[in-house]
Amino acid sequence: MFTPFGCIFLLFALAATLAGAAPSRLFARQTGDLQCNIARVKIVGSILQAAQTARNLTQELSCGCGNSSSLIANVTSGIITAEDAVAEIVGAIFTGQAAPASARTQVGDGLTLALESAGNITSTDPAVTSNLATLTSQLIAAGQAGDDVLQDCN
Ligand SMILES: *[C@@H]1O[C@H](CO)[C@@H](O)[C@H](O)[C@H]1NC(C)=O
Ligand SMILES: *[C@@H]1O[C@H](CO)[C@@H](O)[C@H](O)[C@H]1NC(C)=O
Ligand SMILES: *[C@@H]1O[C@H](CO)[C@@H](O)[C@H](O)[C@H]1NC(C)=O
Ligand SMILES: *[C@@H]1O[C@H](CO)[C@@H](O)[C@H](O)[C@H]1NC(C)=O
Repeated sequence: MFTPFGCIFLLFALAATLAGAAPSRLFARQTGDLQCNIARVKIVGSILQAAQTARNLTQELSCGCGNSSSLIANVTSGIITAEDAVAEIVGAIFTGQAAPASARTQVGDGLTLALESAGNITSTDPAVTSNLATLTSQLIAAGQAGDDVLQDCN
């Protein structure tokens, strides 16, 4: 489950990022950097999409087939770990500070846990395997956007 605060913060961050695309004196330094804005929108968007796919998979795997429901629970906890750290990084960028190293590590750890757990889910259900492929590409996209944020927003 996602903490309401985490979700609201991410939506706020996304909205603020989009709003930030307009000229603003307050965030002039950041908004001047188009690459940085694109990366911020991408990482927030990819993680929200991955979270949605994980929710769908949680329902599909609720039969408790083998280790699948435990694995998808671990996927979700990895996504939440990454989500919290992204919120921290986006928050730091808004206030013009460097993203804390601990948050950077946490994004990587969360995404890695999610990817590895997802990779261990086995299923013959085409709906599940299709969602797993979607989830994997969303997690990889989030990881790449995370790298872009660190590269473009400093
Ligand atoms: C669940 O995972 C454990 C440890 O990884 C493994 O020993 C066991 O065989 C798995 N069970 C199923 C049903 O896959
Ligand atoms: C999920 O994570 C927990 C805590 O790290 C671990 O004990 C458990 O074995 C994991 N489940 C599977 C199926 O790997
Ligand atoms: C995935 O499965 C392998 C082999 O059973 C195991 O060593 C590894 O810990 C598992 N990883 C996760 C994240 O469940
Ligand atoms: C969940 O995934 C299945 C298979 O891809 C899809 O048909 C269904 O619409 C999805 N449901 C939601 C709520 O996204």
